[in-house]
Amino acid sequence: MIGRLNHVAIAVKDLAAASKTYREVLGAKVSEPKAQPDHGVTVVFIELPNTKIELLEPLGEASPIAKFLEKNPDGGMHHVCYEVEDILAARDRLKAGGVRVIGDGNPKIGAHGKPVLFLHPKDFNGTLVEIEQV
Ligand code: CO
Repeated sequence: MIGRLNHVAIAVKDLAAASKTYREVLGAKVSEPKAQPDHGVTVVFIELPNTKIELLEPLGEASPIAKFLEKNPDGGMHHVCYEVEDILAARDRLKAGGVRVIGDGNPKIGAHGKPVLFLHPKDFNGTLVEIEQV
């Protein structure tokens, strides 16, 4: 069922500084920042040969990553995203396996314009997992 690693998301306090490090020190291809008010984040995409890194900076009062950054003041890995072919079939299989799907169980349109769901970190060794239909 599980497919490619689509991206690793890292929460950062200062998107400009983090982008600069990836661009200038690591020599990575870094996109312009994109505000995503529906998700409460501003995102930068970093294209690597085999996957992507997303840097997330809080946007607005009720950003879902604000609390994470309170606990992790230096920033940190926020989630990993795996690709699936059929998100509803994947959801049903995960639920049958005892995994908690966050929210109402209905996929939302994620940062790449594709349906996504988030899975409870307690069911994945402390790691928030996103699945994305590709
Ligand atoms: Co993501």
